[in-house]
Amino acid sequence: MQDISAYISENKDRFITELIELLKIPSISADPAYSKDVVKTAEEVKNSLVAAGCDTVEICETAGYPIVYAEKLIDPNLPTILVYGHYDVQPPDPIELWDSPPFEPVIKKTAIHPNGAIFARGACDDKGQMYMHVKAFEYMIKSNNLPCNVKFMIEGEEEVGSDNLGLFVAANREKLANDIILISDTSMIANDVPSISTGLRGLSYVEVEVTGPNKDLHSGVYGGAVANPINILAKMIASLQDDQNRITIPGFYDKVQDLSDVERTKMAEAPFTLDAYKKDLDIDAVYGEEGYTTNERNSIRPTLDVNGIWGGYIGEGAKTVLPSKAFAKISMRLVPNQDWEEITELFTKHFLSIAPKGVRVKVTPHHGGQGYVTPIDSVGYAAAEKAYEKTFNKKPLPQRGGGSIPIVALFEEELKSKTILMGFGLDSDVIHSPNEHFGIWNYLKGIETIPYFYMYFTEMSKS
Ligand code: BES
Ligand code: MN
Ligand code: MN
Repeated sequence: MQDISAYISENKDRFITELIELLKIPSISADPAYSKDVVKTAEEVKNSLVAAGCDTVEICETAGYPIVYAEKLIDPNLPTILVYGHYDVQPPDPIELWDSPPFEPVIKKTAIHPNGAIFARGACDDKGQMYMHVKAFEYMIKSNNLPCNVKFMIEGEEEVGSDNLGLFVAANREKLANDIILISDTSMIANDVPSISTGLRGLSYVEVEVTGPNKDLHSGVYGGAVANPINILAKMIASLQDDQNRITIPGFYDKVQDLSDVERTKMAEAPFTLDAYKKDLDIDAVYGEEGYTTNERNSIRPTLDVNGIWGGYIGEGAKTVLPSKAFAKISMRLVPNQDWEEITELFTKHFLSIAPKGVRVKVTPHHGGQGYVTPIDSVGYAAAEKAYEKTFNKKPLPQRGGGSIPIVALFEEELKSKTILMGFGLDSDVIHSPNEHFGIWNYLKGIETIPYFYMYFTEMSKS
């Protein structure tokens, strides 16, 4: 029986080539112009699961993009792991800031990735991390080392809110029944500081529209006498945070679960260099809610951020205009036990209430989702910890993540199972940004670690 390291050494070039092929397909779920490519990616994922050795592999149609479902069931008395991932990617914009085209993957060395990293949209989020599971599974099949049952559910709408997956999960509880859900779609602290994500933030995403006069006006003829919707929108947004950078929406913090001092002290033990953080981002200071550290601000505290703001004239040169309308897209990251629908309502009510006379305001909710916290005293966490210890020679740290995977809370609700978040990417891999990449070392380390999780989880579930 060949061991995983030997299997990786022998097959790593093929593992890389296969991932590169997958990354060439622009599976941008947000843009209908790419719908054929999204569907084609689902086909490729399906083919890869067949080739790796799954028995049943299906393309499950939804009202949106298909879900790829596969299984290998070896014994009903053994535990079942459900692997979730997504094959869709974020739009590559702004495309001019990429050093190489987003869907023509290239391997380049960086200071953090001396063995090279694959640069492409989706390299880390989530094609690369999802594909680690396909290759780890391939190894377990080829070497006769699969210790338990496995189900794969790979979707194509994560980046647009997973609405159809939610319906699919609710309608297929039995089919998806499992003992643990395993996801690689988060990050770890550093290659020499392995960590396991123990939390995800929730999300409420809204769009606001402020309308002033019924048409664009000359800013000289009318300026000063009529409310300018852009000025008003800017004022309204600015008022959503106070001097301490706390969110001013009444009731916003009511349900926030505070961490105990013990938990905060434990969190502060994770290595973090503020200077390196600032240098990487070219900023002279960090900014955020008073009374909290940077790592607390970006994980255990809720936020409110404008993601986009527009209106009026944004073309070349200067045009004098008092616009009729102004818009913004606003996201709120939430923490346990904030409820995203309740927060969306609180936001809407408050935002409408602060609109001055002279403008009309409309708030349109987009998607949202609840946050999630993984218990660290579970068999799943212990098995993951042991797997990292085996391949990194270091005990991984539990780390609360700042991003969102809304379907995870829904998994718990519908399937009653916990999720283990084994992410192998780094925050500096810049997912969602130009020049997204995924370290080859990280990719292979993930493939190496996953089979140990299967092994320890199966062993530890017995006792
Ligand atoms: N993989 C990310 C989420 C993530 C990244 C969690 C890093 C923790 C650390 C996922 O693909 C994502 O981008 N989610 C969206 C939410 C979704 C509803 C569009 C997000 O967090 O913005
Ligand atoms: Mn993702
Ligand atoms: Mn993403």
